Amino acid sequence: MTPWWKHGVIYQIYPRSFADASGDGVGDLPGILAHVDYIERLGVDAVWLNPIYPSPMRDMGYDVADFTGVDPRFGTLEDLDALVDALHRRHIRLILDFVPNHSSDRHPWFEASRRESGGPMGRHYIWRGSRAHAPSGDLTSIFGGSAWSLDPERGQYYLHSFLAEQPDLNWEEPEVVRAMQEAMATWFRRGVDGFRVDAVTALAKDTYLLDDGTRPEAADLREFLHTAPRSPLMHRVLRSLRAVADTFGDRVLVGETWVNRIADLAAFYGDGDELQLPMNFALMEAEPTAAAWRTVVDETESALGEGRWPCYFLENHDIPRLPARVPDPELLRVVAVLLLTLRGTPIVYYGQELGLWSPPVPPEAQQDPVGRDGTRFGRDGARMPMPWTDAPGGGFSGAAPWLEIPPGYLRHAVSVQERRDDSLLALYRALIALRRSRPSLTEGAYREVAAGGALAYERLAPRERTWVMVNPEARPMRIPGPGGEILLATRPGVLARDGEIWRLEGRSAAIVDVR
Ligand code: NOJ
Repeated sequence: MTPWWKHGVIYQIYPRSFADASGDGVGDLPGILAHVDYIERLGVDAVWLNPIYPSPMRDMGYDVADFTGVDPRFGTLEDLDALVDALHRRHIRLILDFVPNHSSDRHPWFEASRRESGGPMGRHYIWRGSRAHAPSGDLTSIFGGSAWSLDPERGQYYLHSFLAEQPDLNWEEPEVVRAMQEAMATWFRRGVDGFRVDAVTALAKDTYLLDDGTRPEAADLREFLHTAPRSPLMHRVLRSLRAVADTFGDRVLVGETWVNRIADLAAFYGDGDELQLPMNFALMEAEPTAAAWRTVVDETESALGEGRWPCYFLENHDIPRLPARVPDPELLRVVAVLLLTLRGTPIVYYGQELGLWSPPVPPEAQQDPVGRDGTRFGRDGARMPMPWTDAPGGGFSGAAPWLEIPPGYLRHAVSVQERRDDSLLALYRALIALRRSRPSLTEGAYREVAAGGALAYERLAPRERTWVMVNPEARPMRIPGPGGEILLATRPGVLARDGEIWRLEGRSAAIVDVR
């Protein structure tokens, strides 16, 4: 039987920003629970939550102080159990975020490690040098600045791929492997269905790279990311996590695998013993043109072959929302069709179905540490509160939200879009429902069927053929092909038959049942 995560659409929720039930302005688990009916109506098969663990929130929860708890801002373990239960009753799975690369500097492991180099946690982190001698090589962290910080207590430097408050764990230490495996198992026992594994490529810190400052790629930690597919250490870590997932059966590991070359993605699947769904960042990065999409899909199909299942997305909590790249509302409809009809598991980011955009947030107002110094792009714009209604405050919270709801968001509120058949939300619902109802769209093979300014492809199941035609250009396109019943179109009347040819209007897309 095909595993659920191949059929499914994954819905990513940024818990701080989905819904606030406790009234403190920060979204929480009971807030999500209050909206499970909305999630069910969307038709998704799984929900992925960004980190909910206890955290000083220096990096909004990606600085984990306890890998097996729930931060009181988000609720309690019982709230998590209630959410798992409510989702499962609706046949929706729950995926949590897992952050293997680092912990918070407030994690008890780090506090012990800095106190006692010879103690049981002495090697839990990556320590080098001494007060007098900085480690060799001048590594730059992914968030900027040196990747080595001196800990005054231990008198040594520790490595941090991200903020200084996020020391990197040492996966060469067997006790780290065991403890992290146990943390993962704890959640599986609670009924969690899988994890999105954070910063997979940052795990590639094989000692030979780390300690050889003469290697050119050792100058900037971002360069390590490109060595990840060939890193024995990273593969060992992924195998150790997958081994845990497999003992529970039917669980999934999605991974944040941001690589430059699509061909590199294949490595993260291992021999079927690492990630099931390494995320493909290339579709998100592609220009909205048929040529760019064709390149991404062709390269993905040939790199992965039939045995490895692709995983596409267009938005997440680290990058500006789609309208920054796709400014035309009609094009937003076209990319929705693309995302939800390619071969692979799509991830939809909360609010993407409403057409939310990332408003500019000045550095002094940024909550995101990455945006605060003004030199880099802050991520708050992609993390705005969800507008549920068009009443002031958007029905997100009874209090002032942690980020102010941008003017204009209320026009896009769920309640507004639910009143209209032609809304983007209605299109997402229809697309997801269609995808679910057609084996060719969920599991079928992919074959491109027409070249040119539009992208046209066929999805093929044993007793079903579906044609998808997407035209991002402003002008209409003519696509030769067999006739059939139009199942869905971005707008009524955009696709018409002219003899043996389909005529597709500009900035539109359609799905056809082909006989
Ligand atoms: C990737 C996460 O998506 C991002 O939000 C976070 O800041 C870094 N990893 C560090 O954990």
